Amino acid sequence: MRSSCSPLGSLWFLLLLGAGCLLLLVLVVQFLRCGLWRRPQRSSPSVFDDSSVGSKQQVTKRHRKLLLKSSAPAGGEEQQQLRLAKTQESRRHLLNEICDKYQPGITGRPVFRRQVSRVYVEDRSRLLYCEVPKAGCSNWKRVLMVLGGSAASTRHIPHDAAHYANRLRRLESYDRVGIAERLRSYTKVLFVREPFERLVSAFRDKFESPNSYYHPVFGRPIISRYRANATRSALRTGAGVTFREFIQYLLDVRRPVGLDIHWEPVGQLCSPCLLRYSFIGKFERLEEEANMVLRSVGAPGNLTFPGFKDRNPLAERTSSTITQRYFSQLNATERQKAFDFFYMDYLMFDYPKPFKDLH
Ligand SMILES: *[C@@H]1O[C@H](CO)[C@@H](O)[C@H](O)[C@H]1NC(C)=O
Ligand SMILES: *[C@@H]1O[C@H](CO)[C@@H](O)[C@H](O)[C@H]1NC(C)=O
Ligand SMILES: *[C@@H]1O[C@H](CO)[C@@H](O)[C@H](O)[C@H]1NC(C)=O
Repeated sequence: MRSSCSPLGSLWFLLLLGAGCLLLLVLVVQFLRCGLWRRPQRSSPSVFDDSSVGSKQQVTKRHRKLLLKSSAPAGGEEQQQLRLAKTQESRRHLLNEICDKYQPGITGRPVFRRQVSRVYVEDRSRLLYCEVPKAGCSNWKRVLMVLGGSAASTRHIPHDAAHYANRLRRLESYDRVGIAERLRSYTKVLFVREPFERLVSAFRDKFESPNSYYHPVFGRPIISRYRANATRSALRTGAGVTFREFIQYLLDVRRPVGLDIHWEPVGQLCSPCLLRYSFIGKFERLEEEANMVLRSVGAPGNLTFPGFKDRNPLAERTSSTITQRYFSQLNATERQKAFDFFYMDYLMFDYPKPFKDLH
């Protein structure tokens, strides 16, 4: 007997309705707990295939609608979470668009070790962090050390310990499966900074105060190639490189010494089109956005992202005003070429043109 209004039929209907409501409730609760942007820990078809990016976007949109529908009163903190989540959504969306346009088909490609060589692993929090120098990376390393249990607090980790004795593992040190599995299921974090500002910050840090590595290794060849009539002592120490000389080196296709991670574009350091980060933070809002990451990976409540600057703490932090001052030492052609050098970073991370005359 197949009657739609049999007692059994309506029982099934009620059960389904109940299950549906429960699912909705679970989704809303999950959403509130995890934030919008966190990558769902579902398995994707292939370990190197990141085709779940598209569906993630849909999931995110659905979640947002759910939240808006649910009449939960949104407090200040929730408003902030929602705003940050929307920002993440639009940053990821833009990056995907740029990647599809400039590197179509890259998402299905295998990941090679060198493409994850700047990525640090924190297994307890299931976090991957791609190191971008001059965009808060020392403090990120401190935070990873605390998360991993090798330090009790970020306060007492000196700069050198954060970089050279941090006991952090890089993703490239795992085998193929270890790499793929982490890329698939961990929260992948990238923090970027306005490219010219990052460049000026690197220049000031490496060339304007004594440095036993950058002066001999980069300063010497730069002075000897780009400075007419260099003094013997400048040639010997490599100290006193000017910003203009530094830019000449950077833009030279036959540069006398290779690039360095401090001035390498993020697009090359962190392979954002290939790795499809779950979180794209900006140095300009470092603390707020980094704390959002920490809360979402379930970091201890007393761990917040540190606000201190430890290298040359007396020097003023590189601002847009300082950046403009350095770039005003260049002529229009040099500025344009420097912009071209970082063009993809400007595009992928949505930074406006830093000078009106650039195209
Ligand atoms: C947070 O609290 C725990 C336990 O109370 C303590 O061991 C740890 O050092 C604290 N961490 C920070 C970063 O203060
Ligand atoms: C280098 O020194 C020579 C001789 O002192 C001088 O004629 C020339 O103008 C100098 N060149 C530059 C670029 O300063
Ligand atoms: C700008 O400086 C470069 C040297 O870096 C020079 O070759 C070029 O002619 C200059 N361009 C203008 C427009 O002055």
